[in-house]
Amino acid sequence: MVLPPHSPPPGKSGITSSNAGAPPGSGGKTARPPLASAVAKTLSSIQANSTPQAREFEFTNTDFERICKLIHAHAGIALSPAKQDMVYSRLARRLRACGDHTFAQYLARLERDKKEWETFVNSLTTNLTSFFREAHHFEILAEQLKRITEKRPIKIWCCAASTGEEPYSLAITACEAFASMNPPVQITASDIDTMVLAQGQAGQYRKDRVDRMPPSYLGRYFTRGATDPDIYTVRPELKRLITFQRINLLGPAWSVQGPLDAIFCRNVMIYFDKPTQYGILKRFVPLLRPEGQLYAGHSESFMHAADLLRSRGRTVYVRLDAPPR
Ligand SMILES: C[S@@+](CC[C@H](N)C(=O)[O-])C[C@H]1O[C@@H](n2cnc3c(N)ncnc32)[C@H](O)[C@@H]1O
Repeated sequence: MVLPPHSPPPGKSGITSSNAGAPPGSGGKTARPPLASAVAKTLSSIQANSTPQAREFEFTNTDFERICKLIHAHAGIALSPAKQDMVYSRLARRLRACGDHTFAQYLARLERDKKEWETFVNSLTTNLTSFFREAHHFEILAEQLKRITEKRPIKIWCCAASTGEEPYSLAITACEAFASMNPPVQITASDIDTMVLAQGQAGQYRKDRVDRMPPSYLGRYFTRGATDPDIYTVRPELKRLITFQRINLLGPAWSVQGPLDAIFCRNVMIYFDKPTQYGILKRFVPLLRPEGQLYAGHSESFMHAADLLRSRGRTVYVRLDAPPR
């Protein structure tokens, strides 16, 4: 793990509960117990829907436009005008914590304090995820893993790993495919958001996050809390397969080494515009093995990059020079 020492700020427990990835537009970012979460979400949407005059902090269109430019330039995230209320409610918490009275003041702080960037970015990402989300990909991956007959480490990059459910699902898939708790698989789990990475590394999930998994998986890959049986902790054998690290997909250099057997890049490209997506895909291609597979989210299509990749169906892509199967 290459993350800096990290302690969750007030309101973030570090244990991932059902609202850890609030739906786009909800404004909800904090992992809380379900009731507190429902109250927080309601308050958040009341704030979000309130008229600018009724808002606690002055937030002008110019402030919003500046925020859009900053987060687009830094993280690639393209915020539509419809996200103005979401941005307000997400950052209002930060203004309160910093003691700023207007968004202009907060933006000035951002300009002079490099350290604030991390929290600014963490506040504006949307981290919705779940174990075995878009389950067909894990079946396709299992088939891909079983086809590899050479004795070598199999390398997978999960590049928008959020709170860890996706890389742990990859690790479980590998264990099941090799019928071993020690499969020859190395998973890099990265995200731009340091808060969610810390939650992923902690590997602790509330019951509502894991209860749709087969009970046999829960027994094999998790331990239940002695003091709180509703908390499930990922077993160390599974954790050992994963390295968590911060990687900004827009960053100039990625600390991940090819050749990769698989890249899971799911449900993050939807936040980027097409030129940004294309630039990232162009950098993925040389990292992939010729027979490597790129897995995209169900609503993401890379047909605009047909000069780089071709579809293998069901939102799986391969290099143009991929051998036929
Ligand atoms: C909606 S979640 C998707 C999680 C998971 N891949 C899935 O499909 O369930 C999108 C994730 O992308 C991350 N993200 C957004 N911009 C990013 C960037 N520029 N570089 C790396 N990760 C980014 C967010 O922090 C968030 O955790």
